[in-house]
Amino acid sequence: MTATDLAALAPDVLDLAARRVEAETGLTFAGARRRRFDAALGKMADTLGLPGAAACASWLLAGPWDAARSALCARFLTVGETYFFREPRALDLACDVARAHAARGANRLLRIWSAGCCTGEEPYSIALSLRRRVPQLPPDGVTILATDLNDAFLDFARAGIYRRWSFRRADPADLDDFFRPLGDGRFEIDPRLRAQIRFASLNLASATYPSAATGTVAMDIIFCRNVLMYFAPEQVGRVIARLRDCLAPGGWLVVNASEASPPLFAGFTPVYHEDAVFFRKSAPADTVAVPQEATAVAPPAPAPAKAPAPAPARAAAAALAPAPAPPVPQPDGAMARVHALAAAGRREEALQCLRRAVEADVLSAPLQQDAALFALEHGDRALARHCVRRLLYLEPDSALGHYLSALIEDASGRRPRARSLLREFGRLAAGADAELRSALKQWMERAP
Ligand SMILES: C[S@@+](CC[C@H](N)C(=O)[O-])C[C@H]1O[C@@H](n2cnc3c(N)ncnc32)[C@H](O)[C@@H]1O
Repeated sequence: MTATDLAALAPDVLDLAARRVEAETGLTFAGARRRRFDAALGKMADTLGLPGAAACASWLLAGPWDAARSALCARFLTVGETYFFREPRALDLACDVARAHAARGANRLLRIWSAGCCTGEEPYSIALSLRRRVPQLPPDGVTILATDLNDAFLDFARAGIYRRWSFRRADPADLDDFFRPLGDGRFEIDPRLRAQIRFASLNLASATYPSAATGTVAMDIIFCRNVLMYFAPEQVGRVIARLRDCLAPGGWLVVNASEASPPLFAGFTPVYHEDAVFFRKSAPADTVAVPQEATAVAPPAPAPAKAPAPAPARAAAAALAPAPAPPVPQPDGAMARVHALAAAGRREEALQCLRRAVEADVLSAPLQQDAALFALEHGDRALARHCVRRLLYLEPDSALGHYLSALIEDASGRRPRARSLLREFGRLAAGADAELRSALKQWMERAP
């Protein structure tokens, strides 16, 4: 087949390749992400010495799926954004669970899994937090498994050498006890922490877990943060069900707040925070206290019928009291009702209604966008941030999303981040067509 033939076939071949990659790795390239897939295929083609994206797509489609295809997809299609002490509330949960474990004098190991650990910042942050904050639990009383699809990330994690950028939310001065400066701007993790973590390759889209072979059974906490967002909804459901099977009774699954669509988490009880959501597998009558700070994002509609009873822990009980919630409205009607409540001066009810609506339709970008603006206008920055994250997940190139995100960051005092978002907004808006530019103008006039 000539290059011209391939070019004519390209859209079909690229579609088929995108579908195969999704089936094999779980990574989805629907909507705006599709352009990223096509661009990545071009780069993969260069690496393979193939003439272009279409030829690379044909290579991905030909023959059985093998390690070479997996490795290349992992290298070019996964996102390696991570840093130490990300979403610290989740680390608070790990410390609380560890304290409760130590207090019970449990004679079994505390088992933690970082699924989608990327370059290791997440599992090392867990190990470090436990060492520092739960000294009553000896390091050999904890086992930490860290897995990822991308072997290059895992090699990096095993080396345990990081640049200052990995500590962008931490003060390296605080880390003196556990990092050795190498004198060239890099820091090496303490070998004692490194020895505590087992790094292994594991594809979350495969059915290799739970299993004794992968060491993924009877987990007390699974961190699977900022990973599910790259999967298609059906795949997310399968992954969550398997992760649930990996948890011990009462175990916790931690995901990023923007990934938490309650219908997908059947069999769990959710506890919401601004930047993380904890899902508890069941609610035995023991007492692992969840972090005590108030929840930033209220729980959505009542748990599905099959879900266990609400957790008895104090904060969870308060957060999860079976709410006599009104029926979840449909998106269009929901926004009208939200506005009507606000116009009647019932701000709190309007925001509650909005929370339920955005949880009921997590995949609607227009709804998340309208909800973000409403929440900002009505002073609920946490909810606005939650909706903007979802919006940018659904539409990574949304100019409005970048603009709103910049407003939120600015209001939170994170000026450099706000400036960089505004620059991105300017770039995206410049490329928008006249109709969108006019819509943008109207939004900017409305935005607080
Ligand atoms: C954005 S990083 C998140 C890292 C870390 N959990 C955090 O929150 O900072 C997403 C990670 O998920 C991994 N990943 C993507 N698809 C995966 C799959 N099918 N199985 C396992 N890991 C996967 C990527 O390789 C990447 O390291």
